[in-house]
Amino acid sequence: MTVLEVIQRSTDYLVRKGIESPRLQAELMLAEQLRLPRLQLYLNHDRELREDQLTVLREWIKRRGGHEPLQYILGHVNFCGVELEVSSNVLIPRPETEVLAEHAWQFLEAREPLHPSGAIILDFATGSGCLAIALACRIPTARILAVDLSWPALVLARHNAQRHQVADRIQFWQGNSLAALSPMAWLDLVVSNPPYIPTSDLAILQPEVRDYEPRLALDGGPDGLAFFRSLAREAALCLRTGGRLLAEFGDGQEALLPSVFSPPLWRVEAIRNDNANKPRILVAVRE
Ligand SMILES: C[S@@+](CC[C@H](N)C(=O)[O-])C[C@H]1O[C@@H](n2cnc3c(N)ncnc32)[C@H](O)[C@@H]1O
Repeated sequence: MTVLEVIQRSTDYLVRKGIESPRLQAELMLAEQLRLPRLQLYLNHDRELREDQLTVLREWIKRRGGHEPLQYILGHVNFCGVELEVSSNVLIPRPETEVLAEHAWQFLEAREPLHPSGAIILDFATGSGCLAIALACRIPTARILAVDLSWPALVLARHNAQRHQVADRIQFWQGNSLAALSPMAWLDLVVSNPPYIPTSDLAILQPEVRDYEPRLALDGGPDGLAFFRSLAREAALCLRTGGRLLAEFGDGQEALLPSVFSPPLWRVEAIRNDNANKPRILVAVRE
């Protein structure tokens, strides 16, 4: 079967299964299998696929037709220019979270760290390690504590850090609270993309998210704010005065967050939008 025939048949199959952008999805899987940039497929329409390539591709297309996310099928994703492995043990890093990373860089580049040897950062709910690793790659003096409750997520995050040679500056730690950390104000910055979807909304998520991404990474409790409340309480003890907490939040939660990050411990400095112009990132100052 030729490249063009594979694209056409796969696209037809994915259309029947109700998959969004079916031709693009088919092309991305084919390009990965042939180890070609996607646009090169157009110069190779008549190329014949080998039987072993077709076997793998049939399996991938079938999985995608069952709504499994493309990133889990291919096993990797690009986050802020950093290639990361992903599996169904971790949330797939999102473009919104790249905006959070950008704001974190801007803050760190504009400020002298508390410790002359470099900034100390906490990434709470690290998942694949995307924020911790992107920050460590961009800021060679930064040291990061990356916390997650999920052991399989931490194993993958550490593997990703090793691939990018930043594992010596990231300490991975399994836990569900910061209570075990020293309460002295030693952190320059806290970043977090915690689970923030209200429990009752989980059932109406698109199947790619609802049926494949870890529930632990999604469920933010009855109003989606459970993690923000504990973060506000616990991070206040570890963050230096004038330090920032940058956290991603869900649709409409910006109205509720100022009552969680409130004086005298916190001041909401800004709410930043994501690339779709929706309020998405909380910037809170430790007073
Ligand atoms: C929304 S994901 C974010 C992952 C990653 N930071 C990102 O931006 O792609 C939330 C992460 O929080 C972790 N998590 C859930 N409950 C937790 C808890 N009680 N304590 C610590 N981490 C938790 C999940 O395992 C998951 O990896």
